[in-house]
Amino acid sequence: MKKIYLYGNWKMNMTCKETKDFFVRMSSALEDKIVSDFLGKELEIAIFPPFTSIAAAMENKGRVIVGAQNVYFEHKGAYTGEISIPMLSELGCTHVVIGHSERRSVFNESDELLASKLKAVLSAKLIPVFCYGEKLEERESGQTYDVINKQLTLGISKLSKDEIERIVFAYEPVWAIGTGKTATPQEAEEACEYSRNLIYKLSNGAGRIIILYGGSVKPDNAKELLSLPNIDGVLVGGASLKVESFLDIFKFYKK
Ligand code: PGA
Repeated sequence: MKKIYLYGNWKMNMTCKETKDFFVRMSSALEDKIVSDFLGKELEIAIFPPFTSIAAAMENKGRVIVGAQNVYFEHKGAYTGEISIPMLSELGCTHVVIGHSERRSVFNESDELLASKLKAVLSAKLIPVFCYGEKLEERESGQTYDVINKQLTLGISKLSKDEIERIVFAYEPVWAIGTGKTATPQEAEEACEYSRNLIYKLSNGAGRIIILYGGSVKPDNAKELLSLPNIDGVLVGGASLKVESFLDIFKFYKK
């Protein structure tokens, strides 16, 4: 069985108390044999809470990885409202999401800024979860691969092969995020296969390329998506807010 990455992006949801309650329920749910037999080996679970809930998640996480949804590339200084890599490391974070489409579109984060963030995160030996993907109008006008090409090239072309091998990539077509519309298995597979070949080329032959799919992943579409050869896992928004729907994604895949 291939290793499956089940990552949950909570976005701006879950207070400290809600986070604690979630992990209490999660720790008993993880004892379920379908999950416990695989966790830590063929199954890797990570949750990305908002900054203010990271400490509560850390205290209760058990065998689940806890990461952050964003970070700034400078280590300290006059950057009001930003959070640095040492601040995340001090909390025990090992993973950080970079370039989620909501950061790109709502907060205007540019490809250049995201490349700086990627470099800084990798230099600090954390694992970036680097998101990319096209908008609806870009897909409809036949620009899907141009957008993927641009976002991946500007993001990683200055990194070494070794650095690129440590990135977890997440292809998330923007039109499928939070909309209930999932890419068809064929669309998801084609985009991830294209990405894999491009990443291989940009890295001069990376031996390890991990690509997740994200966008309205739910238990009922998980099996089909996770069975695709170029998809190693899923980045889940809405369905990660409830323990049951989150873990059912893996359970339905195994059934
Ligand atoms: P969604 O979000 O599962 O709610 O569509 C996915 C994401 O934004 O990572």
